[in-house]
Amino acid sequence: MGVVAREGEDELRPELTRPDTSLHASWLATYAEWPAGSHMDGAGLAAGDDVTTREGFAAWVAKLHRSADPAVTPAPGRAHSTYWWITNGDTCLGALELRHALTPLLLEAGGHIGYSVCPRYRRRGLATWALDTALDRARARGMDEVLLTCSPDNHASARIIERAGGVLEDVRDTVIGPKQRYWIAL
Ligand SMILES: CC(C)(COP(=O)(O)OP(=O)(O)OC[C@H]1O[C@@H](n2cnc3c(N)ncnc32)[C@H](O)[C@@H]1OP(=O)(O)O)[C@@H](O)C(=O)NCCC(=O)NCCS
Repeated sequence: MGVVAREGEDELRPELTRPDTSLHASWLATYAEWPAGSHMDGAGLAAGDDVTTREGFAAWVAKLHRSADPAVTPAPGRAHSTYWWITNGDTCLGALELRHALTPLLLEAGGHIGYSVCPRYRRRGLATWALDTALDRARARGMDEVLLTCSPDNHASARIIERAGGVLEDVRDTVIGPKQRYWIAL
């Protein structure tokens, strides 16, 4: 499935873009639409990150870049991750994270890839497109397989993972709730 255009709207030409401070205003506009209290999966946003000020946003973007740098040791219990923003031109539509390896918690519950799409842009095929593109990038990194997880009630995510070739290994009760765990061979 491609990324669909809605009547009266231009066709989307999505890209997975390296986080960049030039997209600050657009990123904030997306963030403002996020339902209060819900986690922005795949964005790498932690409590205490200041994304509002120009300096804070630049520091956060630099932190996202550092997390992919093999020369920088991840914090205890964390894995190296590459972050991208799902963009259309200079508009942010969502986020996706590819973890380079699994920690025990990621193996149990989090998996290699997390993603989210801004509410306004959902149900247009964007997450499906973003996952397919991320799988190509994982392949290009030399990864053989990736683990994806979702809550049993996240039907959209389960559908996306299954359509991308995810094979259900099991459903586990984890410290972050029940998780369906799927492997995708690359
Ligand atoms: C899950 C999420 C990323 C889906 O993004 P999206 O761009 O709307 O997904 P797509 O348009 O590619 O849709 C993929 C499939 O899910 C279905 N779907 C989308 N939203 C759905 C919903 N709320 N309920 C049921 N099915 C849904 C779509 O219909 C499509 O299936 P189809 O092709 O058979 O019609 C988005 O809802 C989101 O950001 N949710 C919050 C964060 C999250 O849950 N991330 C995943 C964590 S595991």
